[in-house]
Amino acid sequence: MAINLNTPRDSFSSRLGVIAAAAGSAIGLGNIWRFPYVAGENGGGAFLLIYIGFIVLIGVPVMLSEFVIGRNTQRNAVGAFRKLAPKSLWPLTGFLGISAAFFILAFYTTVSGWTLEYLYLAISDGFKAQSAESLTQNFELFRTSGLRPLMWQNIFMFLTAFIVYKGIKNGIEKYTKILMPLLLVIIIILGIRSVTLPGAAEGLTFLFKPDFTKITGKVILEALGQSFFSLSIGMGTLITYGSYIGKGENLGKTALSVSAADTLIAILAGVAIFPAVFAFGIAPEAGAGLVFITLPMIFDQMAGGYFFALIFFLLLSIAALTSTISVLEVVTAYLSEELNLGRKKATVIAASSIAVLGVACTMSQGPWAILSVGGYNLFDLLEMVSANIMLPLGGLLIVLFVGWYLTKDAVFAEISNQGKFKAGFKFAYLFIIRFLAPIAIAFVFLNGLGFFSIFGSGN
Ligand code: PFF
Repeated sequence: MAINLNTPRDSFSSRLGVIAAAAGSAIGLGNIWRFPYVAGENGGGAFLLIYIGFIVLIGVPVMLSEFVIGRNTQRNAVGAFRKLAPKSLWPLTGFLGISAAFFILAFYTTVSGWTLEYLYLAISDGFKAQSAESLTQNFELFRTSGLRPLMWQNIFMFLTAFIVYKGIKNGIEKYTKILMPLLLVIIIILGIRSVTLPGAAEGLTFLFKPDFTKITGKVILEALGQSFFSLSIGMGTLITYGSYIGKGENLGKTALSVSAADTLIAILAGVAIFPAVFAFGIAPEAGAGLVFITLPMIFDQMAGGYFFALIFFLLLSIAALTSTISVLEVVTAYLSEELNLGRKKATVIAASSIAVLGVACTMSQGPWAILSVGGYNLFDLLEMVSANIMLPLGGLLIVLFVGWYLTKDAVFAEISNQGKFKAGFKFAYLFIIRFLAPIAIAFVFLNGLGFFSIFGSGN
């Protein structure tokens, strides 16, 4: 790889490193915490089917488009658009991403903090012989208590900043490479335990049997939002990571592997959770607490539960961490490259300014419940607006940019590594990013807009 002596830039050192980091970004709370409860609230099987359709037809092409922009320019999310489309409004797409990073990291670190509390509970054997009711109650008490979730959230933000501070090769790549495979093993073990519980079949039916009477414009928009959120696309995270990918890597293959791994983990999380939900008589649409209530119940019922609880919450925290670092990296790379702050200073400024919004978000769960609009507290609002509005909008702009603003030749050159291999999928890809994806996103979006009364209808 050619090295630019003027601006020596950190980068991933290996193929495995690229995949681990990008999959580390994609696989996170979105798969294990958010997917099951969003699917649960939106009809299970039918939601899953639409979700997978969006991943394949829109998600993978958007991801590839982000890699194309990033690797081509070797710049952060704003700088990349500035380089390719100077004196235009396109860099606003990057700023949309920076704002989404603030919103997402604020509520995401709240939930990441919950995972640390549950790790602590697992260590101190805190789930022993509890009923579904008492687990639910304890979760609610903790979530709304203010100070304790706040403490964990800030510890989590500190860990995130620590890794980002260390850079790409010696921070992000090093940690994700070890941690992601471990997560896969644990979630498979949990899935096996869950499906062998008595009464598990009902949960599998709920997850896999589509019931299309549940589908509305809002459900479809939720599926789109969830697919974007889960793949980490639509806000420049993968533009930023793409900018650290070497010129020899196959971008199409990378996008495909990362998306496949992400989808597999979401389905495995569903398999670990829904059978248990039905076996223990919990409502599948129990909302944000679903994972924190059902999984402790499974652990309590299984041989070696103490050990699995411990390792699960450890890995959930880690999965969250490999995602939060990718979000913080978006803002850090922007500040350090566009505003010429040193990387270290940029990390500290990014993390601490996002932490302010994060505090408001955690507090909105309880003590500052007044921070709400139409029955949605700040936490719900940030989650909904970022996943269902900002990411699809960002994704729409990204495919339009790569499909219509960049030249076909430049795009083909980037995905085939300057013609080094054939990239036989290139015309299908071009068709999708020019027509299919923008039309589908715009359609789902406008259709969902008709349901914006959801802002007023509570949860
Ligand atoms: N994809 C992550 C998850 O599923 O948990 C969340 C996420 C990370 C969203 C990075 C967006 C992003 F840019």
